[in-house]
Amino acid sequence: MKRVVISGIGTEIPDEIISNEELVESFNAWVDLENPMRIARGEEPLARSDAEFIVYASGVQTRHVHTRDGILDPRRMTPRIPKRDDDALSVMAEFGAKAARKAIADAGIDAADIDMVICAASHQQRPYPAQAIEIQKELGTSGAAFDMSLGCSSAVAGLHVAFNLLRAGAHRRVLVVTPEIITGHLNFRDRQTHFIFGDAAAALLLEAVDDDEERSGRFEVIDTRGWTQFSNNIRTNFGFLNRAGLEDPSVVPMEGNMIKQVGNKVFKEVTVAGHRFIVDFLKEHGHSPQGIRRFWLHQANARMNAMILKLSFGHEVGHDRAPMVLSELGNTAAAGAVIALEQNHRDLEAGDVGLLCAFGAGYSIGGVLLRMM
Ligand SMILES: CC(C)(COP(=O)(O)OP(=O)(O)OC[C@H]1O[C@@H](n2cnc3c(N)ncnc32)[C@H](O)[C@@H]1OP(=O)(O)O)[C@@H](O)C(=O)NCCC(=O)NCCS
Repeated sequence: MKRVVISGIGTEIPDEIISNEELVESFNAWVDLENPMRIARGEEPLARSDAEFIVYASGVQTRHVHTRDGILDPRRMTPRIPKRDDDALSVMAEFGAKAARKAIADAGIDAADIDMVICAASHQQRPYPAQAIEIQKELGTSGAAFDMSLGCSSAVAGLHVAFNLLRAGAHRRVLVVTPEIITGHLNFRDRQTHFIFGDAAAALLLEAVDDDEERSGRFEVIDTRGWTQFSNNIRTNFGFLNRAGLEDPSVVPMEGNMIKQVGNKVFKEVTVAGHRFIVDFLKEHGHSPQGIRRFWLHQANARMNAMILKLSFGHEVGHDRAPMVLSELGNTAAAGAVIALEQNHRDLEAGDVGLLCAFGAGYSIGGVLLRMM
């Protein structure tokens, strides 16, 4: 078996920002437009959203978005991202390629030396041709490429596949790219979820190295692991069969086909499962949570991460042990934990062990155990 290192990391965080206050103002403006009609129809009026609740319940203060235009307009509440011709680079491939270029520059290699691209994201722009192949063309990588998706665990699932392809000797360098434009699928009219997500892209380059090769300042991947258990508590019904289910298939409504979640159930169930996963995975490798220098956890909810860590350690732990990027970025789906890693690893010393761990829809959980070389 080959040894595997992370030789490059790149992230792309869009410049445009939306604060909780702005989001809540737009949501409440829509509620004010909607309620008179609901009341006239004899329906229950909608409840207003609240910026203080959002910070308390989730820890999110702002989110960066790919395109702000359109999101805050109470009559639209959807980003305005112009449609592109088939010959133009697609929006998702462009976003992913930006992070990928930074990972390649970080590794200091030529794109042509990469022989596999995996586009691992919670949403893909289309079923085919694969995003990953478009990214392959855009970057000029060689070999092959494919897409995969596992909700917010997509990046760690991509790393699980990449690690095992590399150590088996099937490939030499695998780029895992995670573009997340989740605002494109978010229902900004759903009080339960409108504040949760933000957009970002991340990329990791994994490389097979010889037994005696030293890569000081880089992470060696010790092992990867995945876990899934079916749940409807985070779900989208958006899909190609929607049209076929309609009497009039000419217009497919988005209402009911966007992201929905039963947040409090997800919170409880994934907290327990995440804690068990972490403790068991570490134990398999002779570690306890106390021996892990840093945890880069999925960035969905600050209280949830604090609770997972408290269950695992037996006491509260600070942000030096488990850094958060959620407050500024929101939940950037599968990109979040990788961004936490990118922003918080340069102070680690040779021999320090860290765990990248993401969780989300499916349910799904994935872990990547790393050692600083
Ligand atoms: C979504 C989440 C932040 C909601 O927080 P919560 O504390 O669980 O909130 P609940 O849904 O139980 O709602 C609590 C109360 O707040 C209210 N509320 C919900 N959204 C609100 C909003 N935007 N503004 C004001 N109040 C709101 C609810 O109506 C409820 O009121 P009630 O007690 O009077 O019935 C939280 O559940 C969460 O982050 N879950 C995990 C999500 C996750 O990890 N997802 C993975 C996806 S990658």
